[in-house]
Amino acid sequence: MRRPGWRDHATDLLDPVIGALPEPVFVIDATTHIIAANRAARTFIPAMRTGDPLSRCLRAPDLLDVTARVLEGAPAEKTAWTEKAGVERRYEAHVAPLRIDGYEAAALISLQDLTEAHRVERMRVDFVANASHELRTPLASLLGFVETLQGPAKNDDAAREKFLRIMREQTQRMARLVDDLLSLSRIEQHMHVSPATPVDLSLLVAHIVDTLAPMTEGEDAPLAIDLDPNVIAPGDRDELARIIENLIENALKYGRCLDENRPIEISLKRQGKFAVFEVRDHGPGIAAEHLPRLTERFYRVDAGKSRAKGGTGLGLAIVKHIVLRHRGRLAIDSRPGQGARFRVLLPTSD
Ligand SMILES: Nc1ncnc2c1ncn2[C@@H]1O[C@H](COP(=O)(O)OP(=O)(O)OP(=O)(O)O)[C@@H](O)[C@H]1O
Ligand SMILES: [Mg+2]
Repeated sequence: MRRPGWRDHATDLLDPVIGALPEPVFVIDATTHIIAANRAARTFIPAMRTGDPLSRCLRAPDLLDVTARVLEGAPAEKTAWTEKAGVERRYEAHVAPLRIDGYEAAALISLQDLTEAHRVERMRVDFVANASHELRTPLASLLGFVETLQGPAKNDDAAREKFLRIMREQTQRMARLVDDLLSLSRIEQHMHVSPATPVDLSLLVAHIVDTLAPMTEGEDAPLAIDLDPNVIAPGDRDELARIIENLIENALKYGRCLDENRPIEISLKRQGKFAVFEVRDHGPGIAAEHLPRLTERFYRVDAGKSRAKGGTGLGLAIVKHIVLRHRGRLAIDSRPGQGARFRVLLPTSD
């Protein structure tokens, strides 16, 4: 219990100290009523008022238990909890005993929002698990073939030829995966420096369309191309080539219109201060729940189909990173049965 008359004096001293701290900090008395709170705490819990009981401000049973222990004389303790209302958020509180003249007991609670750190950590764990899984499958199959070639198929020329061909494909797949991982990490490393060399996007798109011609061999007009001439944007030519390549390749791999044979539309337009590159297909499209996750590393709508086509699931993650590095924007629109449209906006030099 506090002695009357002391409260104002104590909070006078506390306020400037906790006010100088950047994280949400507040002080409670022996009955867990709030004596003082800094601005960050009031922003964090807008309903918090001096004199409120802690349980009214924060719904975290573990925090209340820890607070009770500390107020009874236990040393400082930490506790973490997850709030699941809407977007999941993770918090940590540090509760330390505090001696204030005039108060039987008090505790200082400082809060930390760990949501972002938690998300990054989970991404790192998932990433290592995914990358290892992607490498383990072709490695296991390589090992299997080597053993067969050393044993049962030792003198079987036909089987050897067949196995060696598959082994070559698996090895190329692993090499592509490692290359993609390396380019992702290189792009991430240089994320804060926007590349500035002028690149003629019109020529670049035309060149990539030519190099992808073998994928459409023997088909009538699978691509409809509409390019404005002289669309120039500052950038890194190789990185911009990867965006164009990846989006056209995806449309060819996943966006074929099987019944009507409608072409994939590729366009490059200048719109104000932006170069707009668009790939529109009339294939099966993508369901809404997948759209926000398409640019995550290793995310594939149908992993089996993607693997069968030699995909690593890193293509769109690389596209997104390159677009961000160029201070551009990537927009994906699609509805099942209505094809997909991938649009990249890149700032032009003028
Ligand atoms: N035009 C499209 N139509 C339908 N689904 C698509 C389209 N483009 C991409 N997808 C889906 O998005 C997933 C992720 O694409 P992404 O380019 O990142 O990986 P990938 O093509 O599988 O592999 P990689 O690009 O490494 O070869 C694909 O596996 C596919 O399921
Ligand atoms: Mg791809």
